[in-house]
Amino acid sequence: MISRNRRLRANDSIRSLVRETNLTTNDLVLPMFVMEGNNKKEAISSMPGVFRQSLDLTVQTVKENYDLGIKAVNLYMKVSDNLKDNTGKEAWNPNGLMQTTIKAIKDAVPGVVIMPDVALDPYSMYGHDGIIKNGKIDNDSTVEALTKMGISLAEAGADILAPSDMMDGRVLAMREGLEENGFTDVGILSYAAKYASAFYGPFRSALDSAPVDAQEIPADKKTYQMDFHNSREAIDEALRDVEEGADIIMIKPGMPYLDIVSKIRELITQPIAVYQVSGEYAMLKAAAQNGWLDNDKVLIESLTSIKRAGADMIFTYAAPEVAKLLNR
Ligand code: PBG
Repeated sequence: MISRNRRLRANDSIRSLVRETNLTTNDLVLPMFVMEGNNKKEAISSMPGVFRQSLDLTVQTVKENYDLGIKAVNLYMKVSDNLKDNTGKEAWNPNGLMQTTIKAIKDAVPGVVIMPDVALDPYSMYGHDGIIKNGKIDNDSTVEALTKMGISLAEAGADILAPSDMMDGRVLAMREGLEENGFTDVGILSYAAKYASAFYGPFRSALDSAPVDAQEIPADKKTYQMDFHNSREAIDEALRDVEEGADIIMIKPGMPYLDIVSKIRELITQPIAVYQVSGEYAMLKAAAQNGWLDNDKVLIESLTSIKRAGADMIFTYAAPEVAKLLNR
């Protein structure tokens, strides 16, 4: 035998020399759940180790994680029911929780990249990412609302808007809105290929944002999020968002969709973000808590596989503990 592949696997030094993918803290983005109040911290039962926190504790957590090497945070608000309606107008309240949170983080940790979520579901009385008209999610009025939200978040100090709504044409509308208002340096990370996935369950309970059960509204998000049977359609979504002016393209969920990541990687030059979503996190944690999987090893392996598929950055709830593992 002339060729023996095992030669380059003989020991850790050799393996590290020929390693094709390296996971570092530079790759990590931390999604965070923020709630009203002071000194408040609530556990999310289906996401062990993840909390909803009030603003003061959120700022502290951002700082701690920045010191660990995590340079970007992705923000979600838990909005109280009395602020929710069909238009989602609380989303562009200049004194809203998201806007206040962005300002406070900017003040305390100016180096961190702030990526707020842009979508109406936490603000919608129906738990949908769009405005409902005649029993349907209305694309164009939703895009107008999202653009208002985006501009309001840019005014508060957001660095990169992260629209997760999957309406058509929202990247272009948001880009134009930002330009017209002088926010030429605010970027857009668009959830280009976001699938209608059952893996979002724990996230929706964290924010109490699941579509409500009512006759007159759609029961699920399948008219805007992608059908998980499809892959060519994801390519079309990604190319379109790039054309509309997206700076970074998101594919979501992560592990069950690595084929999509690797295909899109071949076709665009823009950076790719992948979201290891709440359900993926919950699966890994549940198995680890039962002693069925090695927590640290599966976290590193799962994130490395996402990077190997072509991700430049990964949104993961495990970012703090993974940063600690990587810094060891
Ligand atoms: C909503 C949004 C969702 C997630 C991020 N933004 C849920 C959904 O689309 O219903 C899911 C994230 C996760 O599961 O970790 N715009």
